[in-house]
Amino acid sequence: MRFVLDGAVIDLPEVDPTATVLDHLRYRMGRTGTKEGCAEGDCGACTVLVGELASEGVRWRAVNSCIQFLPMLHGKALMTVESLGNQPDAAAEVHPRNGEDSREARHSPLAPLQAMMAANGSSQCGFCTPGFVMSLHGRAIGARGCELPVADVIAGNLCRCTGYGPILAAGEAVDRIVRDDTALAALLAGIAAEGASGEWRGRKWFAPRSKDELAALLARHPDARMVAGATDVGLWVTKGLKTLDTVIFLGDVADLAAIEETGEAITLGAGARYADVHAPFARLHPDLGELVRRIGGLQVRNAGTVGGNIANGSPIGDGPPALIALGAELTLRGMAGRRTLPLEEYFLDYGKQDRRPGEFVESIRIPRPGPGTVIHIAKLSRRFDSDISAVCGAFALTVEDGTITRARVAFGGMAATPRRAGACEAALTGKPFGEAAIEAAAQALGHDFAPLSDVRGSSAYRLEAAANLLRRLWLREQGQAISVLDLEGLDG
Ligand SMILES: Cc1cc2nc3c(=O)[nH]c(=O)nc-3n(C[C@H](O)[C@H](O)[C@H](O)COP(=O)(O)OP(=O)(O)OC[C@H]3O[C@@H](n4cnc5c(N)ncnc54)[C@H](O)[C@@H]3O)c2cc1C
Ligand code: FES
Ligand code: FES
Repeated sequence: MRFVLDGAVIDLPEVDPTATVLDHLRYRMGRTGTKEGCAEGDCGACTVLVGELASEGVRWRAVNSCIQFLPMLHGKALMTVESLGNQPDAAAEVHPRNGEDSREARHSPLAPLQAMMAANGSSQCGFCTPGFVMSLHGRAIGARGCELPVADVIAGNLCRCTGYGPILAAGEAVDRIVRDDTALAALLAGIAAEGASGEWRGRKWFAPRSKDELAALLARHPDARMVAGATDVGLWVTKGLKTLDTVIFLGDVADLAAIEETGEAITLGAGARYADVHAPFARLHPDLGELVRRIGGLQVRNAGTVGGNIANGSPIGDGPPALIALGAELTLRGMAGRRTLPLEEYFLDYGKQDRRPGEFVESIRIPRPGPGTVIHIAKLSRRFDSDISAVCGAFALTVEDGTITRARVAFGGMAATPRRAGACEAALTGKPFGEAAIEAAAQALGHDFAPLSDVRGSSAYRLEAAANLLRRLWLREQGQAISVLDLEGLDG
């Protein structure tokens, strides 16, 4: 496999399919600027930028190198904190925010974001600093998610000592850094043309480039482990110490990542990353966009895919409840062809999904809600940013002439799988849209679910929280409850 680092092609004839990019940088290349804080995608100390060839040139995105496997870099460019002094942009035009004078940025031997972190006192022990610098540098060079506020861009980076004020100030101080990636794009075009594969100590890996190639590979290796963004599988290796024998990487299967928006529906390939569906989802409904904004940090959304979220089958995955409530359909493709099923039917039991050997999740179709549909999607987690749900509730109620004619209600965190709430739906359907129906349906949730108690919430808390999410839908309709979206911009 080959990738580009600071303008040089790195050629690795043999790679362990599940060696992490972080370990390779630190232990094989001596690039110890990139830190290991948690090894599970939570702290952002290991943030690097990965550049891919796209129609507009090179498209960069920040990812957590601790849960990215080395073969996933094939045909891509890598930028680490050490790169900043060596990249063309170190000497490039820097546009400080609001035209403020930025002497530190212009006269320092440090790259602009490093200089601003120093000038603002944004670093104490310094362990988190390279990660913040890379996240903020990504924003300044126009990487994926650069349109987000600085606070969102660093929501996946943790600092234990400095506090976030000075770090936010450093990020705000550099508005834009202009890079010229023309030469890099040409280099990438030369090395990214073909799919890669390899073998290391009897363990095989493949990186196909089309769905047809993927289908043929799965027919030959039905037990292979597919890896899309590795934001779930990465942890099986770094924390679960699991060995994967045959791995098929999906990141280069371009036709698996397509997103099509029509007046009737959004259809997305299973390989579409959360960062890429954020805007289309927000257009479908603002609550769905907000849900995406709260999936992991930007580094996780820049790698994690909607298909991986579904295929993983976690009872606390955030995508499934919302997509089930919206009436999404899943298409699977395998040796016997394609089959399409309502998303809720895919989840059979804890850890058990309706996926046959040799099949892969190909696409998800989400119909646009019809007129008169009341939608409410809400995630409750112990920490607002970058945390897994305790309860995630999604409601789509069709209201015609004041009567609820159709109700789809789904929850995560309430059962062994993401699930519809049949008793709650029955209590709503055919009833006048009003407080009485909402209250009866909230009570009915006790017949639908007997949730577990765990570190994220007790059984009683989950049941009450789920009922309150439904009550909140009603209050919101009455203009008596504000959503998180409405809180944006309010002090305190
Ligand atoms: C720090 C952190 C925070 C997170 N926060 C959230 C959160 O807030 N909400 C949330 O829901 N999740 C969260 N996650 C979990 C994870 O990011 C998501 O589940 C993500 O969508 C997984 O996608 P992936 O592409 O990374 O999957 P991978 O890890 O690559 O794969 C996951 C599983 O899906 C299978 N798979 C992948 N693609 C396909 C396919 N096309 N067909 C068949 N099987 C396939 C794999 O074989 C594997 O079993 C978080 C993870 C981390 C590390
Ligand atoms: S080391 Fe913490 S996110 Fe990678
Ligand atoms: S400066 Fe010490 S963790 Fe951030």
